[in-house]
Amino acid sequence: MVEPHGPEQQPHAPPPSLWPVGFAVGVAVLLTGIVVGWPVAALGAAIAIVFGFLWVRDLTGPAAAAGREPPPPVGARPATEAGHALPLADEGEIERFPRARFLEGATLGLSGLIGGLITLPVAGFAIVPTFVGQKHEDVDIGELDTFPEGEWQVVTFMEDPAEGEVSRRTAYVRNNGELEGQPSLTVLSNRCAHLGCPVQPSGLLDEDASETVETSNTVVTRIPATPAAFTCPCHGGAYDLEGNRTAGPPVRGLDRYEYEIRDGRVFLVGAYSVGSVQGEGKEALIKRYDLMNPGLHVDGPSAIMYPIGPRR
Ligand code: FES
Repeated sequence: MVEPHGPEQQPHAPPPSLWPVGFAVGVAVLLTGIVVGWPVAALGAAIAIVFGFLWVRDLTGPAAAAGREPPPPVGARPATEAGHALPLADEGEIERFPRARFLEGATLGLSGLIGGLITLPVAGFAIVPTFVGQKHEDVDIGELDTFPEGEWQVVTFMEDPAEGEVSRRTAYVRNNGELEGQPSLTVLSNRCAHLGCPVQPSGLLDEDASETVETSNTVVTRIPATPAAFTCPCHGGAYDLEGNRTAGPPVRGLDRYEYEIRDGRVFLVGAYSVGSVQGEGKEALIKRYDLMNPGLHVDGPSAIMYPIGPRR
């Protein structure tokens, strides 16, 4: 016996698709990757693009078009058959489907536009600084001979004199003597690795011996000091003379400046963050990292949470 054909002869909408789920997973991985690292972000972007493409293809392909076709008019059934005769669907009824589609698309598009207008500026301010390096001018802090070997000096200078006092910085500088024929300096930043308060030397400052000199590109004040350690007045952070954290809430050691000796003068040419330092002076082994903002771990398990910091 031949089974009468029922509803399967009718055109019907395409089955539910998993592409949107894959797309959502891709976006989630992408957002996670922004925090965790580039490889994960790239993987998420790839997943989102592939599934997004498949989703759009489903929505616009022939199968979807067939699903959107208005159903064929239902013919009036003769009264001789069971039930009442049904009227033919009028043209207006059929026309409603394309209009519903249009409204659906317009609502989704408008919602996406509004969401984008709200989200993108916020996301931009949050993410873009991570990838934009800030300009840094080399700073001439004076002749190497003005830094006696084995002695500390508190050096303040304007990183960019054109910007004025807002660019004033402080470094703690010690001449370690020569290492393999090259001068070795320890140049610590005074920016606390907890929240950025100015770290102070615990010890005497010889204010009477301070001097202010004009160098080739800034004005520098140098004060001889005999610190026993460095401490932070804000929350009690403490560091040893190599900048290692010894107490309090700082999450790493003090940042350091990179330097170059040019024609007998000391130039600060950049800065970097430090996990820890082993040894002292010119023998020190420094675990260095790209410069990170205060409060960000650079090594250990916690560093997984801070794979990229704002470029400074
Ligand atoms: S800012 Fe230095 S300990 Fe908090």
